[in-house]
Amino acid sequence: MDAPLNPVALTPLTSRRGGPIRGRARVPGDKSISHRALILSALTVGESTVAGLLEGEDVLNTAQAMRSLSARIERSPEGLWRIHGVGVGGFAQPAAPLDFGNSGTGCRLVIGAVAGCPVTATFDGDASLRSRPMRRVLDPLSQMGARVIEQADGGRLPLTLQGAVDPIPIAYESPVPSAQLKSAVLLAGLAAPGETTVIEAEATRDHTERLLKHFGAKVVTKPHGELGRRVTLQGQPELEPAKVVVPADPSSAAFPLVAALIVPDSELVLQSVMTNPLRTGLFKTLLEMGATIETLEKRDDGGEEVADLRVKTSQLKGVEVPPERAPSMIDEYLILGVAAAFAAGTTRMRGLKELRVKESDRLEATADMLRVNGVNVEIEGDDLIVHGTGSVAGGGEVKTHMDHRIAMSALVMGLASENPVRIDDSAFIATSFPGFVELMREIGADLA
Ligand code: S3P
Repeated sequence: MDAPLNPVALTPLTSRRGGPIRGRARVPGDKSISHRALILSALTVGESTVAGLLEGEDVLNTAQAMRSLSARIERSPEGLWRIHGVGVGGFAQPAAPLDFGNSGTGCRLVIGAVAGCPVTATFDGDASLRSRPMRRVLDPLSQMGARVIEQADGGRLPLTLQGAVDPIPIAYESPVPSAQLKSAVLLAGLAAPGETTVIEAEATRDHTERLLKHFGAKVVTKPHGELGRRVTLQGQPELEPAKVVVPADPSSAAFPLVAALIVPDSELVLQSVMTNPLRTGLFKTLLEMGATIETLEKRDDGGEEVADLRVKTSQLKGVEVPPERAPSMIDEYLILGVAAAFAAGTTRMRGLKELRVKESDRLEATADMLRVNGVNVEIEGDDLIVHGTGSVAGGGEVKTHMDHRIAMSALVMGLASENPVRIDDSAFIATSFPGFVELMREIGADLA
């Protein structure tokens, strides 16, 4: 297989202190829902539509994968996506390898969807995605009858999977708190007869379950233990075409939100942010740290709760973040690290093992990002400890390791630090937050 396509020239970017962060902003659509809306539409007979789709590279790669598996997908000039699906089990053999670029979510979810269809497909991605573990999804999918024909060392990409001709429903106790793993099993279970169950010790984001119901599948969720859930899908449903409206991504909103908290004199309204309780661990933590975040106008938008959030500059204080909160803020520890650096006192974030297998090793990367900018940080086991003093020296160059969230977090830090913060590469921001630089400039950020 060819080497993955990575940008050859780096695009550095610098952020510096300037005026306040002010105004109103709507960040792009939620990444998790966008991937799922495309995949489930492709598994539905007839035409579904998706409004507000995140048009970032990760999601566009999933759209391309759905086309390669024979769904017809068009985008209207106004940005409405129309997907003509092929039905559960109806994917056709793709002519070429499926390239997921930087996206673990797109890749793992489509591996699940393909595992339930009688086709063989090769999955690949960029250097970051090639380093990430896929065995966690391959193990249960093998139990369901899929076969891994080829894989790189340690169950990594590129890998070739032969989907099951007669998928077997399973009850699977997930060994890691991962919505991607849960979703891969449920998507494979669509084509299996009977009930497929995923049991999770800690509840993870439930967008797959919500959307499955939206498309007409029968899904029952019950509590499991103190923090967990047991999700059961009735297999072989006739999925019905549906309209999906994608709310604004709380993981993207986190960047302008923290910018407004740490830059003096700021006041920002973030519009229509999804407030699904399995995604709002960061907001909860920031409130405990003393942040002024007002929830305005809570409402329902396409099956998810959304709200406008009004944020004002706040004097933050250090807190302890319990390990059981991790699934509800797993993508937000980098930007929380920035907030913690500007807080007074120590913030201890506990139980961050999963951060080591994200787009980069985010536990090390968060510590490095802060350290090169003069912040006192420690890693103890799976805990990250940030000793905040209320101000950050800055002046460092941050290595982004092909990780969009490192890039955006570091740039936010530079907006309030004494000296500018430079990142080595801004290209990967486009995987999840196209228009980030423009949006940040509109609300007052100095990025150049
Ligand atoms: C996602 C789940 C999380 C998260 C990722 C999106 C999803 O990963 O980090 O950005 O959409 O299911 P894990 O499932 O590996 O925890």
